[in-house]
Amino acid sequence: MDLTRTGDPEMADGPLGARQHARLAAAIATAVGGWLGANAWFPGHGQRVAGAAVRRFLRVYGSRPAADNAGGSRFNACAWLFVLTRLIAPRLIIESGTHRGQSAWLFRQAAPDARILTFDITHQALSHRQPGIDYRLGDWSDADLPPVDADTSLGFFDDHVDQARRVREAWARGLRWLVFDDNLPAHLLFVTGRPPAPTISMLFDPSLRDGERLAWTRRGRPRSIDVDQEAWAEARRLIAHWSVLPDLAPATGCRPQTGLTVVRLADRPR
Ligand SMILES: C[S@@+](CC[C@H](N)C(=O)[O-])C[C@H]1O[C@@H](n2cnc3c(N)ncnc32)[C@H](O)[C@@H]1O
Repeated sequence: MDLTRTGDPEMADGPLGARQHARLAAAIATAVGGWLGANAWFPGHGQRVAGAAVRRFLRVYGSRPAADNAGGSRFNACAWLFVLTRLIAPRLIIESGTHRGQSAWLFRQAAPDARILTFDITHQALSHRQPGIDYRLGDWSDADLPPVDADTSLGFFDDHVDQARRVREAWARGLRWLVFDDNLPAHLLFVTGRPPAPTISMLFDPSLRDGERLAWTRRGRPRSIDVDQEAWAEARRLIAHWSVLPDLAPATGCRPQTGLTVVRLADRPR
């Protein structure tokens, strides 16, 4: 029952008792179940798969390669990524944004038989290479990919690149299930150095007027992006459904991150 690792400021630095471990699993499963119940993404056996996935996640998380994956997916994000992967059951996973290799490792735990490709423009931070995972240097849009089946392939974009661009690229390459990190609303673009704007939320924000300049300051540097509804419309038409996953912090006590968003692309532009 040891999901702790020395050196992780989020976690206790020793094993949880069995009943405490079970309580934590139940609290996460309840939070995940609330989202599943409120959304029709995974009808039928979704609750059962998610409950088992949470229990499995807590068994594997203790062997994560990076004790403290600062700058990448930590406990709450990893829990959601693991559960979603079990729910979607992909045979092909394409990740953009490898960083240390933690989320790629997690995908392997959640989908032992899937083919996994992970892209990054630098391998300077890459500290864990999992056997069987294809680590690619460069942007995914330049790469040759294996055949993509719409229903059994998953794209995870955690690369701080314009999310409208990623939607268009993913759709053209046949992906339909996507997960995005850092889907920030327009008023929170200042929370990260390179916000992936326009984000999914911004594409659907009725308050953003065409031509409006969104301006903010980050570490003393003025930053801005101009709203271009005509350019953004193409990505918007490719999105059938999207949902921001609720943060698990109230259930886990681990610090909130910018949160994950699941997206289902349309088979045809709307
Ligand atoms: C937040 S980190 C990824 C964290 C990782 N997914 C995890 O959860 O452990 C973002 C990464 O995106 C990478 N990145 C930046 N531009 C990119 C691009 N065009 N394609 C792929 N990765 C890119 C950065 O080098 C960085 O390693």
